[in-house]
Amino acid sequence: MAKLLATFLLCTLAWGADPDWWRNAVIYEIYPRSFADTNGDGIGDLNGITEHLDYLKDLGVDAIWITPFYPSPQVDFGYDISNYEAIDPQYGTMADFDRLMREATKRGIRVVNDMVLNHTSDQHPWFKESKSSRKNPKADWYVWQNADAKGHPPNNWQSIFGHSAWQWDEKRKQFYYHAFYKEQPDLNWRNQAVRDAMYDTMRFWLDKGVAGFRLDAVPSLFEDVQLRDEPYLEGMDAYGERIVSRVYTDNLAEVHEVLRELRHVTNEYPGRVLIGETYLPNSLELAKMYGKNQDELHLPMDMQLGFLNKLSVADFRRKLFEAETQLNGNMPLFAFDNHDNMRSVDRYGDGVHNDAIQRLIATVLLTPRASALMYYGEELGMTTNTPTRVEDVQDPIGRIGWPKEKGRDGERTPMQWNNDANAGFGGTHKPWLPVGPNYKTVNVAVESKEPDSLLNYYKRLIKLRKENEQLREGEFVLTNEASETVLSYIRVTRDGKAVVVAMNFTSQPQAMSVDLSSRGVKGRHLKTLLASFPGAKEPDLGHITLPAFGSYVGQVEP
Ligand code: NOJ
Repeated sequence: MAKLLATFLLCTLAWGADPDWWRNAVIYEIYPRSFADTNGDGIGDLNGITEHLDYLKDLGVDAIWITPFYPSPQVDFGYDISNYEAIDPQYGTMADFDRLMREATKRGIRVVNDMVLNHTSDQHPWFKESKSSRKNPKADWYVWQNADAKGHPPNNWQSIFGHSAWQWDEKRKQFYYHAFYKEQPDLNWRNQAVRDAMYDTMRFWLDKGVAGFRLDAVPSLFEDVQLRDEPYLEGMDAYGERIVSRVYTDNLAEVHEVLRELRHVTNEYPGRVLIGETYLPNSLELAKMYGKNQDELHLPMDMQLGFLNKLSVADFRRKLFEAETQLNGNMPLFAFDNHDNMRSVDRYGDGVHNDAIQRLIATVLLTPRASALMYYGEELGMTTNTPTRVEDVQDPIGRIGWPKEKGRDGERTPMQWNNDANAGFGGTHKPWLPVGPNYKTVNVAVESKEPDSLLNYYKRLIKLRKENEQLREGEFVLTNEASETVLSYIRVTRDGKAVVVAMNFTSQPQAMSVDLSSRGVKGRHLKTLLASFPGAKEPDLGHITLPAFGSYVGQVEP
């Protein structure tokens, strides 16, 4: 108890001292199942995270977001929660969590929990009670509907994970709605009791000192009350169904009312942050997620830039410009990688210049005016290791949708710590997913020793971003906007001091010059702060040369 109180006080003091810590922060996503296994069962655990906190401190991250580690049948590897206020024994105990919090806090690293609001597991006591009859105190906690006259589901809504979003329940003789797997019934967010219960679970973790939440599937919280059929779009999905638009099930206006309530709860505690998983079609919709009065999410994820999936200078420039001009001055949160998508190297790489392209992505992630989300292993150059046989697939969508949808196992392979058996992930037991084939050279131990490794590039970039005043506080201004080959911008502070960032988006060397005369920047000479390529000369604004996919960061010297 005394230890717990100490953690709470320590966190409250630490987080409260800098309530704006999340601005410009580097947040590192950990998929606990795949990070480090300390008890040798082939599955990562909380102690595995604690064991590697020094690595994370050295990397320079401000916070870790840990994907769900609560009790769960693990159908969706933790995103199907059966108890919001405990730890799944696979991942450890509450004492392990408290120790992780204490050790992270000691190192100045904040812990952000994942909070799944849209749905619970079908094994959660709330759902068990709700499905037990049509008349019980929780009968209306989920989205129940009668069958139509022919006994079919009430409409054509499709699960994001394939096939009808409605599942028949024999006991209630009704369907329930599930935006994801049928084992993940959607909660009824129009029921105030549901809201209050969820807010209490959040307070449980806030009381423990977590620095905030990454909120899962934010746009999915509400569905149309009239249950209107979704219009059909062209084509078939990976599961063999006609594609439906999601106008009646995605991003309904009522979401904002809940976000304001969530912010209200979070505001009871100093320095806590709400991060949103917000896949949205454009920046105007994204802007709404911050709230008209900055009273909704602190950091809704911008999934547009990182998931362009094409190295197009014009598209990158446009998305950066929108983030700067359409978010009402709020702090963007960029991400290129997560546990649901092929790793960025496999979406942006050309197979020849992958190393340079990874550094380019690191540079564009970490030098604009934005907070940044990283995903474990991104800093090493871990690649996607998609299963080649359906019998090896762990992620259920990979089995439901095989071979068109192979699931998300590929981006969830064990963290590559060293070149021992199992990449140092832990134990002798076979890890739950096979380690990536490049682990002998792409790993922490090897890359820590190579001064020019990708890992050291990330470290230098993060350090620079913290120490350099322009990268920390400067305005973001695009330059060379007509260029079809080079993306460049400056970060400039009021006193006219500027840092130039330039990235070659092509496989040909490019020479460029940057004209800053109209920006009130003094000086022409550039002092190289970081370059992704060896032998960067000390150039001036008139002569910057970049090799294939090269990235350059330099301070303009008066
Ligand atoms: C988004 C999570 O990132 C994903 O892994 C999960 O399957 C769905 N939400 C459902 O919770």
